[in-house]
Amino acid sequence: MTVPPRSLVGKRILLVIAGGIAAYKSLDLIRRLRERGAEVRVVLTQAAKEFVTPLSVSTLSRGRVFVDLFDLTDEHEIGHIRLARDCDLVVVAPATADLIAKMAHGLAGDLAATVLLATDKPILLAPAMNHVMWAHPATRANMATLAARGVGQVGPESGELAEGESGAGRMSEPLAIVAAVEAQLGAAAPLAGKRALVTSGPTHEAIDPVRYIANRSSGKQGHAIAAALAALGADTILVSGPTRLPDPPGVAVRAVETAREMLAACLAELPADVAVCAAAVADWRPATAGEAKLKKDGGAPPALALAENPDILATLARHAHRPRLVIGFAAETDDLIAHARAKRDRKGCDWILANDVSTGTGVFGGDENSVHLIDAAGVESWERQSKDDIARRLARRIALRLNEAA
Ligand code: CTP
Repeated sequence: MTVPPRSLVGKRILLVIAGGIAAYKSLDLIRRLRERGAEVRVVLTQAAKEFVTPLSVSTLSRGRVFVDLFDLTDEHEIGHIRLARDCDLVVVAPATADLIAKMAHGLAGDLAATVLLATDKPILLAPAMNHVMWAHPATRANMATLAARGVGQVGPESGELAEGESGAGRMSEPLAIVAAVEAQLGAAAPLAGKRALVTSGPTHEAIDPVRYIANRSSGKQGHAIAAALAALGADTILVSGPTRLPDPPGVAVRAVETAREMLAACLAELPADVAVCAAAVADWRPATAGEAKLKKDGGAPPALALAENPDILATLARHAHRPRLVIGFAAETDDLIAHARAKRDRKGCDWILANDVSTGTGVFGGDENSVHLIDAAGVESWERQSKDDIARRLARRIALRLNEAA
């Protein structure tokens, strides 16, 4: 089974389902939009409830389904104006002759029509009706009015209609509607079709079955970078050591514990277009972690013999399937830029983000970071900002770089 691209991560779609036999296909449409990472809210017309149940729609969309204007009267509820605007795109599928006429004439007699009148977002119609209704001058005129206002259209297709007649009027298949949604929103997804690999968090290196060596990394920066890359449309894999953070939305997470597991998980995800190594990987592991818990036996404390861990960043940077862009972090406490430059050369990565983690900066575990981006051309210092903002800025830079001619 092919995995659909995460082309709609971070996109919010308001789906209006009107009352027509094609409404059953809208259930599949919801599933396919969600598979691609979109959040889907649904408004059903009263007539649509005859074809699909609010329960099946809310189960598939994992959200509330709105049917009546009265659903929205409670002050704790989302208002109809917010419902109409809290989205990137409004999709009407199926768009019936009746709802198209209401839109063309600016009627607002029910929730669906009201939302369509109140929205300031782009609208995409997937018409579905009998072929005579579709060809009727009234529908033609209404569609022309809506097209002149910039309303988009996908379908209808020609073929056999529900009544056994045939002609133009059949709603487009869900995948064709998804493609139209992607085309409409595509400009905002500069990393669509690109694959990103991100490491994050600390690693835990076992001393014995109950004790381990770790470090203070929270994973916040790496997780934020994975979320930001996914939000720009990248198919994003996050290989994370143990953290307390929730999985970022739209990101496939591979949980690991040790440096060696992290390396194996990363190699299994190649090829990728970009790799960002934000994990604070333990440089060493206890050389002989046994099956049994170490016991105090009254003698001298045990000495820990250490073995060196693989360097994940350096391995990716020198791999036969090297990602086009390999990015590392340099956490330093002194001589930040000089050490980071040397690290970039030593590890063979393209960019290195140098950050000062000396005591008092609050970077480790904190919500802010202050970084310098070092590449072959020089050093660019970014002002101190939240880890989320750094992640978004980095993701935009990555998108610019990957979209340059190869
Ligand atoms: N890194 C890695 N694998 C390791 C060690 C580090 O992938 N085994 C990556 C980190 O994710 C980071 C970069 O290398 O992107 C630099 O990490 P840092 O801990 O600062 O560098 P070290 O190699 O540990 O160098 P040193 O301890 O000498 O400063």
